[in-house]
Amino acid sequence: MGFKAIIFDLDGVICFTDEYHYLAWKATADSIGVPFDRTVNNRLRGVSRMESLDIILEKCTHPLSITEKEVLADQKNRQYQDYLRRMTTDDLPTEVKETLDGLRQKGLRLAVGSSSKNTPLILHQIGLDGYFDAVADGNGVKRSKPAPDVFLLAAELLKIDPADCLVVEDAVSGAQAAHAAGMKAACVGDAAQNQAGDYNMGSIRELLELV
Ligand code: BG6
Ligand code: MG
Repeated sequence: MGFKAIIFDLDGVICFTDEYHYLAWKATADSIGVPFDRTVNNRLRGVSRMESLDIILEKCTHPLSITEKEVLADQKNRQYQDYLRRMTTDDLPTEVKETLDGLRQKGLRLAVGSSSKNTPLILHQIGLDGYFDAVADGNGVKRSKPAPDVFLLAAELLKIDPADCLVVEDAVSGAQAAHAAGMKAACVGDAAQNQAGDYNMGSIRELLELV
Protein backbone atom coordinates (compact mmCIF):
# COMPACT_ATOMS: atom_id res chain seq x y z
CA MET A 1 0.00 0.00 0.00
CA GLY A 2 3.00 2.31 -0.49
CA PHE A 3 4.21 2.46 3.12
CA LYS A 4 7.88 3.28 3.69
CA ALA A 5 8.04 2.34 7.38
CA ILE A 6 6.25 0.19 9.91
CA ILE A 7 6.10 1.31 13.56
CA PHE A 8 5.45 -1.53 15.99
CA ASP A 9 3.92 -1.28 19.41
CA LEU A 10 5.86 -3.56 21.77
CA ASP A 11 3.71 -5.00 24.62
CA GLY A 12 1.13 -7.32 23.04
CA VAL A 13 2.48 -7.00 19.49
CA ILE A 14 6.18 -7.96 19.41
CA CYS A 15 5.97 -10.04 22.61
CA PHE A 16 3.39 -10.99 25.21
CA THR A 17 4.55 -8.76 28.04
CA ASP A 18 0.93 -7.51 28.16
CA GLU A 19 0.17 -10.64 30.25
CA TYR A 20 2.93 -9.68 32.72
CA HIS A 21 1.47 -6.15 32.98
CA TYR A 22 -1.87 -7.78 33.84
CA LEU A 23 -0.40 -10.14 36.48
CA ALA A 24 1.65 -7.39 38.17
CA TRP A 25 -1.28 -4.93 38.26
CA LYS A 26 -3.56 -7.70 39.55
CA ALA A 27 -1.20 -8.38 42.48
CA THR A 28 -0.98 -4.64 43.24
CA ALA A 29 -4.76 -4.15 43.07
CA ASP A 30 -5.30 -7.23 45.28
CA SER A 31 -2.84 -5.82 47.85
CA ILE A 32 -5.11 -2.80 48.40
CA GLY A 33 -8.40 -4.68 47.95
CA VAL A 34 -9.40 -2.97 44.69
CA PRO A 35 -11.27 -5.12 42.13
CA PHE A 36 -9.35 -5.62 38.89
CA ASP A 37 -10.08 -7.89 35.95
CA ARG A 38 -9.17 -8.35 32.29
CA THR A 39 -11.87 -5.92 31.15
CA VAL A 40 -10.24 -3.13 33.18
CA ASN A 41 -6.84 -4.40 32.02
CA ASN A 42 -7.78 -3.85 28.37
CA ARG A 43 -8.25 -0.14 29.15
CA LEU A 44 -4.59 0.01 30.31
CA ARG A 45 -3.16 -1.08 26.96
CA GLY A 46 -0.98 1.69 25.53
CA VAL A 47 -1.59 3.94 28.55
CA SER A 48 1.32 5.11 30.75
CA ARG A 49 2.07 3.52 34.14
CA MET A 50 0.64 6.36 36.28
CA GLU A 51 -2.42 6.78 34.06
CA SER A 52 -2.98 3.03 34.28
CA LEU A 53 -2.92 3.27 38.07
CA ASP A 54 -5.49 6.09 37.98
CA ILE A 55 -7.81 3.87 35.90
CA ILE A 56 -7.41 1.01 38.40
CA LEU A 57 -8.06 3.39 41.31
CA GLU A 58 -11.43 4.46 39.84
CA LYS A 59 -12.73 1.50 41.89
CA CYS A 60 -10.89 2.51 45.09
CA THR A 61 -13.25 3.77 47.79
CA HIS A 62 -10.86 6.39 49.24
CA PRO A 63 -8.48 8.86 47.56
CA LEU A 64 -4.73 8.15 47.68
CA SER A 65 -1.93 10.71 48.00
CA ILE A 66 0.65 11.15 45.21
CA THR A 67 3.23 9.45 47.45
CA GLU A 68 0.95 6.45 48.03
CA LYS A 69 0.37 6.21 44.27
CA GLU A 70 4.10 6.31 43.57
CA VAL A 71 4.66 3.48 46.06
CA LEU A 72 2.01 1.36 44.29
CA ALA A 73 3.39 2.12 40.82
CA ASP A 74 6.91 1.17 42.01
CA GLN A 75 5.57 -2.04 43.57
CA LYS A 76 3.89 -2.96 40.29
CA ASN A 77 6.95 -2.11 38.22
CA ARG A 78 9.28 -4.18 40.45
CA GLN A 79 7.08 -7.25 40.05
CA TYR A 80 6.70 -6.58 36.31
CA GLN A 81 10.49 -6.32 35.92
CA ASP A 82 10.89 -9.65 37.77
CA TYR A 83 8.86 -11.22 34.94
CA LEU A 84 10.82 -9.31 32.29
CA ARG A 85 14.20 -10.47 33.63
CA ARG A 86 13.07 -14.07 33.19
CA MET A 87 12.37 -13.50 29.47
CA THR A 88 14.75 -14.88 26.85
CA THR A 89 15.03 -14.95 23.06
CA ASP A 90 12.47 -17.80 23.21
CA ASP A 91 9.88 -15.15 24.14
CA LEU A 92 10.18 -13.56 20.70
CA PRO A 93 7.51 -15.48 18.76
CA THR A 94 8.77 -17.08 15.52
CA GLU A 95 5.91 -15.54 13.52
CA VAL A 96 6.92 -12.08 14.75
CA LYS A 97 10.62 -12.50 13.90
CA GLU A 98 9.82 -13.97 10.48
CA THR A 99 7.38 -11.12 9.78
CA LEU A 100 9.94 -8.47 10.82
CA ASP A 101 12.63 -10.05 8.65
CA GLY A 102 10.20 -10.39 5.73
CA LEU A 103 9.20 -6.73 5.94
CA ARG A 104 12.83 -5.68 6.05
CA GLN A 105 13.55 -7.80 2.96
CA LYS A 106 10.80 -5.85 1.20
CA GLY A 107 12.82 -2.69 1.91
CA LEU A 108 10.68 -1.25 4.72
CA ARG A 109 12.21 0.67 7.63
CA LEU A 110 11.18 -0.74 11.00
CA ALA A 111 10.65 1.10 14.29
CA VAL A 112 9.24 0.60 17.78
CA GLY A 113 6.64 3.02 19.17
CA SER A 114 5.84 2.02 22.77
CA SER A 115 4.56 3.87 25.85
CA SER A 116 6.74 1.64 28.03
CA LYS A 117 9.76 2.97 29.91
CA ASN A 118 10.91 -0.67 30.08
CA THR A 119 11.32 -0.86 26.28
CA PRO A 120 15.18 -1.07 26.31
CA LEU A 121 15.09 -3.91 28.89
CA ILE A 122 12.46 -5.88 26.92
CA LEU A 123 14.27 -5.50 23.58
CA HIS A 124 17.47 -6.68 25.28
CA GLN A 125 15.79 -9.73 26.85
CA ILE A 126 14.25 -10.93 23.57
CA GLY A 127 17.43 -10.38 21.55
CA LEU A 128 16.27 -7.35 19.52
CA ASP A 129 18.89 -4.89 20.81
CA GLY A 130 19.92 -2.76 17.84
CA TYR A 131 17.50 -4.52 15.44
CA PHE A 132 15.17 -1.58 14.75
CA ASP A 133 16.01 1.51 12.68
CA ALA A 134 14.47 3.67 15.44
CA VAL A 135 13.10 3.16 18.94
CA ALA A 136 10.63 5.68 20.39
CA ASP A 137 9.35 4.87 23.87
CA GLY A 138 7.89 6.21 27.11
CA ASN A 139 11.27 7.66 28.09
CA GLY A 140 11.16 10.09 25.16
CA VAL A 141 7.64 11.54 25.33
CA LYS A 142 5.46 13.25 27.93
CA ARG A 143 2.01 12.19 26.68
CA SER A 144 1.21 8.51 26.17
CA LYS A 145 -1.29 7.00 23.71
CA PRO A 146 -3.94 7.97 22.59
CA ALA A 147 -1.78 11.11 22.05
CA PRO A 148 0.22 10.77 18.81
CA ASP A 149 3.58 11.76 20.37
CA VAL A 150 5.43 8.43 20.44
CA PHE A 151 4.55 7.62 16.81
CA LEU A 152 5.47 11.14 15.63
CA LEU A 153 8.79 10.74 17.47
CA ALA A 154 9.40 7.40 15.72
CA ALA A 155 8.68 8.99 12.30
CA GLU A 156 10.99 11.90 13.14
CA LEU A 157 13.81 9.51 14.15
CA LEU A 158 13.27 7.56 10.91
CA LYS A 159 13.12 10.85 8.93
CA ILE A 160 9.98 9.55 7.20
CA ASP A 161 6.72 11.45 6.66
CA PRO A 162 4.02 10.24 9.13
CA ALA A 163 1.65 9.61 6.19
CA ASP A 164 4.12 6.99 4.88
CA CYS A 165 4.15 5.05 8.17
CA LEU A 166 1.91 2.14 9.17
CA VAL A 167 1.42 1.46 12.90
CA VAL A 168 0.90 -2.06 14.29
CA GLU A 169 -1.08 -2.10 17.56
CA ASP A 170 -2.99 -4.29 20.02
CA ALA A 171 -4.46 -1.31 21.93
CA VAL A 172 -7.52 0.74 21.01
CA SER A 173 -5.68 3.76 22.46
CA GLY A 174 -2.75 2.89 20.16
CA ALA A 175 -4.92 2.84 17.03
CA GLN A 176 -6.34 6.22 18.10
CA ALA A 177 -2.77 7.53 18.58
CA ALA A 178 -1.83 6.34 15.08
CA HIS A 179 -4.81 8.14 13.56
CA ALA A 180 -4.01 11.29 15.55
CA ALA A 181 -0.49 11.10 14.05
CA GLY A 182 -1.93 10.88 10.53
CA MET A 183 -0.93 7.22 10.19
CA LYS A 184 -2.92 4.10 9.32
CA ALA A 185 -3.21 1.33 11.93
CA ALA A 186 -3.02 -2.43 11.46
CA CYS A 187 -4.36 -4.12 14.57
CA VAL A 188 -4.06 -7.47 16.33
CA GLY A 189 -5.53 -8.77 19.60
CA ASP A 190 -7.89 -6.57 21.60
CA ALA A 191 -7.77 -3.64 19.14
CA ALA A 192 -8.54 -5.97 16.20
CA GLN A 193 -11.45 -7.50 18.12
CA ASN A 194 -12.77 -3.97 18.62
CA GLN A 195 -12.26 -3.19 14.89
CA ALA A 196 -10.12 -0.20 15.92
CA GLY A 197 -7.73 -0.47 12.96
CA ASP A 198 -7.84 0.32 9.27
CA TYR A 199 -6.78 -3.31 8.97
CA ASN A 200 -7.78 -5.82 11.64
CA MET A 201 -5.65 -8.96 11.52
CA GLY A 202 -5.92 -12.46 12.94
CA SER A 203 -2.13 -12.85 12.71
CA ILE A 204 0.79 -10.44 12.43
CA ARG A 205 1.92 -12.43 9.36
CA GLU A 206 -0.88 -10.73 7.40
CA LEU A 207 1.34 -7.61 7.33
CA LEU A 208 3.44 -9.27 4.64
CA GLU A 209 0.43 -9.24 2.28
CA LEU A 210 -0.70 -5.77 3.35
CA VAL A 211 2.38 -3.77 2.45
C1 BG6 B 1 2.43 0.00 27.27
C2 BG6 B 1 1.45 -0.98 27.86
O1 BG6 B 1 3.15 -0.63 26.26
O2 BG6 B 1 3.32 0.47 28.27
C3 BG6 B 1 0.72 -0.35 29.03
O3 BG6 B 1 0.50 -1.36 26.87
C4 BG6 B 1 1.76 0.15 30.06
O4 BG6 B 1 -0.14 -1.29 29.62
C5 BG6 B 1 2.71 1.13 29.38
O5 BG6 B 1 1.10 0.80 31.15
C6 BG6 B 1 3.78 1.66 30.31
O6 BG6 B 1 4.64 0.60 30.66
P1 BG6 B 1 5.85 0.70 31.68
O7 BG6 B 1 6.70 -0.50 31.32
O8 BG6 B 1 6.55 2.00 31.43
O9 BG6 B 1 5.27 0.62 33.04
MG1 MG C 1 0.41 -2.92 23.27
